[in-house]
Amino acid sequence: MSFLVRGLILGILVMMCLAALFGLQELAQLRETRGGLPTKLFSLVNLFLRVKGAAPARVLISTTLGITPVRENRLVMTDRIFRFLDENRPETPCLIVDLAAVENNYRRLQAALSDARIYYAVKANPAPEILRLLQRMGACFDAASIFEIEQCLDIGIAPDDISFGNTIKKETHMAQAFGRGIRLFAFDSEAELEKLARAAPGARVYCRFFMTGEGADWPLSEKFGCDSELVPYLLCRAREFGLVPYGVSFHVGSQQRGLDQWDIALAKSAAIFEITAAEGIGLKMINIGGGFPSKYRSPTPSIESHSLAITEGMTRNFGNALPEIIAEPGRYIPGDAGVIQAEIVLIANKSRMGSRRWVYLDIGRFGGLPEVMDEAIQYRIRTPYTDGDSGPVIIAGPTCDEADVLYQNADYQLPLALKTGDKIEILSTGAYTASYSAVGFNGFPPLREYYI
Ligand SMILES: Cc1ncc(COP(=O)(O)O)c(C=O)c1O
Repeated sequence: MSFLVRGLILGILVMMCLAALFGLQELAQLRETRGGLPTKLFSLVNLFLRVKGAAPARVLISTTLGITPVRENRLVMTDRIFRFLDENRPETPCLIVDLAAVENNYRRLQAALSDARIYYAVKANPAPEILRLLQRMGACFDAASIFEIEQCLDIGIAPDDISFGNTIKKETHMAQAFGRGIRLFAFDSEAELEKLARAAPGARVYCRFFMTGEGADWPLSEKFGCDSELVPYLLCRAREFGLVPYGVSFHVGSQQRGLDQWDIALAKSAAIFEITAAEGIGLKMINIGGGFPSKYRSPTPSIESHSLAITEGMTRNFGNALPEIIAEPGRYIPGDAGVIQAEIVLIANKSRMGSRRWVYLDIGRFGGLPEVMDEAIQYRIRTPYTDGDSGPVIIAGPTCDEADVLYQNADYQLPLALKTGDKIEILSTGAYTASYSAVGFNGFPPLREYYI
């Protein structure tokens, strides 16, 4: 018998013994556990211990040696959120936002962008608690609709501190906003300018040009903004319409991880300033939009790195003649300050080999996590298990909708010990969650929110 055939027979015998010992499904999970041969061997030992009902090897070793394992799960939530969940045990799914963390994020951003005036993008999280806190801290506000404008005005924010930043507005809403004292409006087309001229005569307007969204996890691309070459013409038209051509704006794409995008946008802005100056229009302002990142699974440059790239881009393109700068951060301010707690409704193996577990949560795409679309935003997930092995999973929401799958291709691995009824936390979910959640899809209520 050749060496190869003997090896093959031995391999099959070993697999049969292992299958008899652990069961086929466990073996299939082991096969998909990430890591090299040492990890697989370690997982095999853990599997054996689990079948024998013992604790995982790491726990046994640390207990024997008297070492307390690091509770890494604790490190990724603020103490205040940890305590709130522990003491209140709220019904899930729910969002908890730590307002002290929101305050810190605002301070850090304002320090990093010290030359810019912050207009918080209300759409990221319009909770009155956040709006009031930011108002106290001196922020201005970027509103996406007349409804957000009314909400800001109702809590006492001055009309001068609000910009109507959506490039798609009904004329009646423009007029309503103008009537309430709003004087700063975004646009990106001649048709929108015509409406503005009628509804908001004499208002200051800024023109948005589009960016490709390259480098961003949540690109905004061509729905907003026009070709930058059209901008000088539109600003001249604004003057002819009796409006005040005030500046330009762009958005480099939300959750932007490429620092080079700032210089590209600022170079385009400087070119527009130069062309319009030749037409006798002295533009005053650049609105650099949002794009400042939260902490998800992929590493992102810090806010200070973004700030450095912006400062360098400003100096390179504008020299010492810096215009007024506005920034419209959304995600960065409440994003990392929020945590969603959810419950596992079901863990299902869908085939005899059961290579990937389906983990169904009581929250999904329609309950406040729409940014999982195309698995674009990949949240970090905290489970009650800090020890033990993990295996591949597909994570899905609770509704009867085919699209309600969170992660299928993003290679999520969750502890093998996870079971139905466990609570998990989805981290950095303070932005673009609660305000997105459906009002009653499949009968589920909107996401509960706690601001602490
Ligand atoms: C006009 C405008 N400004 C600011 C933002 C906030 O962007 P981010 O959350 O990436 O900071 C958005 C997001 O869609 C936007 O459309």
